[in-house]
Amino acid sequence: MTHRAYEPGAAFAAKMDADDPLAGFRTRFSFPKTASGEKCVYLCGHSLGLQPKKAKDYIEQELQDWAQLGVEGHFHARNPWMAYHRLLTEQTAALVGANPEEVVVMNSLTVNLHLMMVSFYRPTRQRHKVVVERGAFPSDQYAVKSQIRVHGYDPASCLIELTPRPGEFCIRDEDVSALLEREGESIALIMLGGVNYATGQVFDMPGITKSGHARGCVVGFDLAHAAGNLILKLHEWGPDFAVWCSYKYLNGGPGCVGGCFVHKRHARAWELPRYAGWWGHEEKARFEMEPDFQAMPGAEGWQLSNPPIFALAPLRASMEILHEAGMERLRAKSVSLTGYLEFLLKARASPTFEIITPHEPERRGAQISIRIPDKGRAFCEELAAAGLIGDWREPDILRIAPVPLYNSYHDVYEFVRRFSAALLREG
Ligand SMILES: Cc1ncc(COP(=O)(O)O)c(C=O)c1O
Repeated sequence: MTHRAYEPGAAFAAKMDADDPLAGFRTRFSFPKTASGEKCVYLCGHSLGLQPKKAKDYIEQELQDWAQLGVEGHFHARNPWMAYHRLLTEQTAALVGANPEEVVVMNSLTVNLHLMMVSFYRPTRQRHKVVVERGAFPSDQYAVKSQIRVHGYDPASCLIELTPRPGEFCIRDEDVSALLEREGESIALIMLGGVNYATGQVFDMPGITKSGHARGCVVGFDLAHAAGNLILKLHEWGPDFAVWCSYKYLNGGPGCVGGCFVHKRHARAWELPRYAGWWGHEEKARFEMEPDFQAMPGAEGWQLSNPPIFALAPLRASMEILHEAGMERLRAKSVSLTGYLEFLLKARASPTFEIITPHEPERRGAQISIRIPDKGRAFCEELAAAGLIGDWREPDILRIAPVPLYNSYHDVYEFVRRFSAALLREG
């Protein structure tokens, strides 16, 4: 999409929507409606992506096959359940910039994070610290602290939190480098979000991976807010592992199965400790019911259980659409759409709110976080009742994400117009 100078009026949004090559994808999703039946301005794909209309057909197909075939469906369903998760492998690999054997769709994010830390957080007396960002998503903090305790260390001395400078909201790249320079020799694991869930800041994943590895640290990323939002090149960047969920920008539905990346260099690292389950066992021998575990090579070797078909079916529907739209085109529209949201908000600048997401397109994805210190969750709920769906994160952040797959310039225009009016009204 060629960049046009933004203009404040509604005509600009209409012109941009008319010229948008991805505009047609919007009709493939169901939009929630207000109590009075109006389509909502849904800008909450960073929390829960919308339902692809064909998700229903995909689930129904599996229900039919189950009804008609019973256990035979494992081998004879139209998409046999034995290998159902593999229907997602190629597209998932393309989505995160990985080789197919480096990815697997399984479990949910926090479970996968634990599985990864069991294998990749191997603390020693000299090197046992873990780096996280201050204000990392709570589940990551709980998971990391609990792993530290499992190994007999104390999070109070073992956890290093990267912190924004006083008066700032985002973490500076140079502060990450300085920390690794200073403490690198004692750090076992760097575990950061690819995109911070609250501020929307994108971390320099290739840079952090490179400098972390140069100091002997293991590097992992939580890509909950990055998968389907940014262009990722995990194989090339080289982190040891990454995990993500599929219900945000991947539109797989509430609680949908997550994803996991294990770099190829660990594909045959049989010596790594891991939690084992039969679905990670060498496939050819899985039904020989041997008592000893032999992991499959690649990310699939970390699987525990047979895959949940009804959770994977809607994800298949969504991943097909994402794949058709293509991450390059989605990201180009996303940069333009998020820039437009920022432009309109800045045009209505007022002391009542400030944008805390970085301004540079390469340091943010689809999300803009608006800090509104005088307001609380009730303000967000009021907006929602009027059909403007974003979400609130304590203490004072309204998160808004124009998702390029199904949001329009008009959505963004409408949001800013009505949000500003609500702020003024409340004054
Ligand atoms: C950044 C981040 N990490 C972890 C999680 C937890 O994911 P799950 O409940 O799928 O384990 C979330 C959920 O929203 C998240 O946003």
